[in-house]
Amino acid sequence: MSIVADMSLAPSGERKIGWVEKNMPLLGGIKREFEREKPFKDLKVALSVHMEAKTAYLCRVLAAGGAEMYATGCNPLSTQDDVAAALAAGGEIEVFARRGVTEQEYEEMLCRVLETAPNIIIDDGGDLTHLMHTKYVDLIPNVIGGCEETTTGITRLRAMERAGTLRYPMIDVNDARCKHMFDNRYGTGQSVWDGINRTTNLIVAGKCVVIAGYGWCGRGAALRAKGLGARVVVTEIDPVKALEALMDGYEVMPMDEAAELGDIFVTLTGCRDVITAKHFAKMKDGAVMCNAGHFNVEIEVGALEAAAVEKAEQRTNIMGYRMADGRWLNLLAEGRLVNLASGDGHPAEIMDMSFAIQSLSARYLVENRGKLSAQVISVPDEIDYSVAEKLLAAKNRRIDVLTPEQEKYIMG
Ligand code: NAI
Repeated sequence: MSIVADMSLAPSGERKIGWVEKNMPLLGGIKREFEREKPFKDLKVALSVHMEAKTAYLCRVLAAGGAEMYATGCNPLSTQDDVAAALAAGGEIEVFARRGVTEQEYEEMLCRVLETAPNIIIDDGGDLTHLMHTKYVDLIPNVIGGCEETTTGITRLRAMERAGTLRYPMIDVNDARCKHMFDNRYGTGQSVWDGINRTTNLIVAGKCVVIAGYGWCGRGAALRAKGLGARVVVTEIDPVKALEALMDGYEVMPMDEAAELGDIFVTLTGCRDVITAKHFAKMKDGAVMCNAGHFNVEIEVGALEAAAVEKAEQRTNIMGYRMADGRWLNLLAEGRLVNLASGDGHPAEIMDMSFAIQSLSARYLVENRGKLSAQVISVPDEIDYSVAEKLLAAKNRRIDVLTPEQEKYIMG
């Protein structure tokens, strides 16, 4: 039995799913293929991904392939209740997701999908795999393998791999070029600013935007901030990335210095304690802070609460904190990823690519059942290339093809 906030919200969720379906042609093609071939027949799939419209469509695609689907979110604040209701309403997919659950309720939802003894894990951030390896060790023999969507999840999986504790193959979907180059960069770049702009309704032009972390996500967020007319400052810990940011035309400095300059701060590092009490002490009155990294550990929210003499909601998803000297500092979406907790996540066309890689990687796991070792495994090149080729074809774009002479020249 599904657990969602309110089944009467289903019609609104169904419209959202219908809209993304029209804008996710790759996934549509894969759904038709899966309907014919039923690659997941007799298999249970446990999925933990931000429960919004694109994810709901992914669930339907996997179910069309014969999977018995059990789905939950991957963040307490990113579930869209109407979408969860629409997905549950069909009755074929069990959904355990509600927006605004406590950390404990969030874990209970993850447990519900794992208690079904799944064969395939679709994870975003590594929570399902972590729980499977700690609380549900007995169920591991049922697992063929899984797919991991994001950088932070891969960091956690790599740590398990190094420690020799990973017990089933996990495909690194994030590592596919058709994933991180588009989803992390252009998806996060656009959706982070959509989240910030719709939440604050403030101008970006002329302001100082501080981007913490110049990885795939940070590059996208910085590029779009520049496009909106901001003066962009980048903070980094990697000297090569810092140089890249400098040559891309941004200011580079430590957060200690950037804290005094920023009007809007965005953290996208996958690290913890990036903005802390010593930075709050230096920030301008009215500064806006938000996070787009996977976990809510990049901005030290506890220290902000402790430093505040008053706290008041300024607008939906904006909490204002008054410091002892009278300055107000604003935190969006409780420091959880702003594009999902205070927006609709990445554009549908971007998630079309990411979820095409997800669903084809899941099929690859089944096709290679028993042959893959318990490691973090790269997405096969043929999956990556097929996604790019199909998208180019859909956009009516053709590219050059190597002549035999050229191929020989390049290959040696
Ligand atoms: P990445 O590894 O490409 O980039 C992270 C960057 O942060 C690196 O350049 C690293 O040197 C830097 N960094 C690490 N610690 C730092 C610190 N203390 N101060 C300043 N810089 C620091 O990772 P990617 O793909 O950009 O992902 C970043 C985070 O965003 C991850 O948690 C990932 O899971 C998440 N993510 C969020 C999405 C969203 O929709 N909001 C979408 C995709 C990824």
